[in-house]
Amino acid sequence: MKRIGMLTSGGDCQALNAAMRGVAKTLFNSKEQVEIYGFLEGYKGLIYGNFRMLTSQDFSGILTEGGTMLGTSRTPFKTIREPDENGLDRVDAMLQTYYKLRLDCLVVLGGNGTHKTANLLREEGLNVITLPKTIDNDLWGTDMTFGFQSAVNIATDAIDCIHTTAASHGRVFIVEVMGHKVGWLTLNAGMAGGADIILIPEIPYDIDKVIDKIEERDKNGSRFTIIAVAEGAISKEDAALSKKDFKDKMKNYKFPSVSYELAAQIQEKTGREVRVTVPGHMQRGGSPCPYDRVFASRLGSEAGKLILKGEYGFMVGYKNREIVKVPLEDVAGKLKMVAPDASIVKEAKLLGISFGD
Ligand code: F6P
Repeated sequence: MKRIGMLTSGGDCQALNAAMRGVAKTLFNSKEQVEIYGFLEGYKGLIYGNFRMLTSQDFSGILTEGGTMLGTSRTPFKTIREPDENGLDRVDAMLQTYYKLRLDCLVVLGGNGTHKTANLLREEGLNVITLPKTIDNDLWGTDMTFGFQSAVNIATDAIDCIHTTAASHGRVFIVEVMGHKVGWLTLNAGMAGGADIILIPEIPYDIDKVIDKIEERDKNGSRFTIIAVAEGAISKEDAALSKKDFKDKMKNYKFPSVSYELAAQIQEKTGREVRVTVPGHMQRGGSPCPYDRVFASRLGSEAGKLILKGEYGFMVGYKNREIVKVPLEDVAGKLKMVAPDASIVKEAKLLGISFGD
């Protein structure tokens, strides 16, 4: 008999359900007797003992469904050791729920913050297996996270739509893409959508270089320019500030996001009409794309295999086209960023895309 707990934590993304289905199907199809407990709304469910026992029926028909059938929430790692408003020790509460249900393993689907807590639970003695979810693709130890390809599709669709209207009006258009502190999503959607300028956090931009590119396009007879801007993009001047000075600057920041600051600068310096489009949480929504359905199912199934073998303490990831198991202690707390000299960046530059550097 295997008793498994399962939860999804942090921002949702496409293919969470597909991944859980992959784990469950593999377990239910084995010779083992299996009980699966689904904790509701992320770590909160584990802390407060909020769960549902899940049967094979619960995992049926969910392959194509976006969101997460368990619900999710953010439980910031940096305050996890602080007691809740009623004085409850949240780490201890999670351990108690695990032991009360006599679980053999906890399956956690999440991104960076979620992995830090998952690793803490491992250090506290729990058997944990994790699966890498996030549209940001910023988890260390895996070349790919599920949700990412679906989000690339949506962000690319947004840039495609903007292309036609930008061309008609001869405007400069900024499309702001999610991705938190990394540029994977913007880089991929930007290249797929034929953006002329791509600005990502890993390559701080110089506003004059951005304007040079717009003017170069003007001279060449292109009436419009598309700029894909990561929500975390940063100018060279801001990147040079100390953490404290940057925080101080942000206290009086009058723009909703970096894209609007850029738009104002471009408008002021060139007199061109600039528009900003922010697809926002649409990028995390809707049905997973076929790639993510297959990918998440494979990861889920490998996680099921590890559980059946009793191998715990790993994230199931993807490296060099192979599904791999990565020790949780190696994953927790590390970001996978775009290297400014990565070959994809060099290739994009050869295509004439400016990174504003
Ligand atoms: O980590 C996924 C992500 O969508 C990031 O790209 C974005 O910065 C963040 O979550 C938004 O978080 P929230 O849903 O809490 O607004």
